[in-house]
Amino acid sequence: MRMVDIIEKKRDGGTLLEEEIRFWIKGYTEGSIPDYQSSAMAMAILFRGMDKNEIAILTDAMEHSGETIDLSCIKGVKVDKHSTGGVGDKTSLALGPLVAACGAKLAKMSGRGLGHTGGTLDKMESIPGIRIARTEDEFINQVNDIGIAIIGQTQDIVPADKKLYALRDVTGTVESIPLIAASIMSKKLASGSDTILLDVKFGSGAFMKTQEKAKELAETMVEIGDSLGRDTRAILTDMDQPLGLAVGNALEVKEAIDTLNGYGPKDFVELVRNAGGIMLVQAGIASDIEDGMSKIDRAIEDRSGLAKLRALVEAQGGDPTYIDDPSKFPVASNIIPVYSKDEGYIRRIDSLSIGLSAMRLGAGRATMEDIIDMSSGIVLNKKVGDFVRKGDLIAYAHTNKKEIGGIICDIENSFELSTEIVKVSPIVHEIVQK
Ligand code: URA
Repeated sequence: MRMVDIIEKKRDGGTLLEEEIRFWIKGYTEGSIPDYQSSAMAMAILFRGMDKNEIAILTDAMEHSGETIDLSCIKGVKVDKHSTGGVGDKTSLALGPLVAACGAKLAKMSGRGLGHTGGTLDKMESIPGIRIARTEDEFINQVNDIGIAIIGQTQDIVPADKKLYALRDVTGTVESIPLIAASIMSKKLASGSDTILLDVKFGSGAFMKTQEKAKELAETMVEIGDSLGRDTRAILTDMDQPLGLAVGNALEVKEAIDTLNGYGPKDFVELVRNAGGIMLVQAGIASDIEDGMSKIDRAIEDRSGLAKLRALVEAQGGDPTYIDDPSKFPVASNIIPVYSKDEGYIRRIDSLSIGLSAMRLGAGRATMEDIIDMSSGIVLNKKVGDFVRKGDLIAYAHTNKKEIGGIICDIENSFELSTEIVKVSPIVHEIVQK
């Protein structure tokens, strides 16, 4: 078999055979197929697409390109969730402890942030001492002991995706539904949970710009997961504004703690309740989403979710007193108020622009080597639907940098105003399930 023939077949719109897909992924992982052929292949897939069978085979080939985790010795239903990447998305830090407090087992491998979106691992590392590198045994024991672990992906999981995703990132081939679906699902399947909830974002700053495209991606992933015996469901959520008020690592951890204490921002609480309701149904703990949401409400009211976050931090070597007293988190030396340039109802807050501004204030990485400043970021003071007058306080920029160029102006310009009253739509636009 020759890689060039497989590339030409896909370039010309052909359907690849199972052995051709496996030959590519195996050869690329082992190094016998070079980057330039894999990037041509990724581009051919981006233009020509793949049918359901090809995507399922690609996912399976990637999943088995390295180690897979066996969670069968954990008692109970193992649940997992994944977000396709949002600005201000600290969902796992509140949702994970809440579903665990309700009896589900959350065995989660998370990622780091790059560009305008933050990663759960980086956020967790704003808690002193916390360790996100764990062995498989430590991971499993922790979930058995306290019902929750959130760790970094081990080196040996889905090596094909590590190489291919880095290649796609620099060859303009990220935005392909078959490639995104296989990339996400191979990692979720390899990490071994029984159920998967996918939060598929759409809009500015998301991979999928429209709800239709997000739905197509969600349906593709749900189909792959279900066909491989995992209860997989998806929610479609918009990124017409950042999630909650805080964007930036320690700022977001504090907001997750606030939420577990019962005073989270409305849109974030709504997302956590909906996602939690679905995950508890998937785990067989709730009879329907309403029942699941009321169990989540109870875990907020009685602070059992907060206690679970504290246990998670402690089990992973972090200082739990930061959860008891979030004022211990370091605060940036420079907190700059941002004012509205105009009057009107806020129609949209450009998430991409807010995410990039937070990154430039120090909260994120432009390259994987950059060091994150945990205390920097942006805290919104107004959200979509609010009315503002010229000069009203709309946000604070937190930074330790002395020189921040035009960032304040970019934050101001992220707020788009309307003269008409703006109706705020529910955060979950649609649920996708079989
Ligand atoms: N997230 C992933 O893990 N993979 C993609 O291809 C896109 C988003």
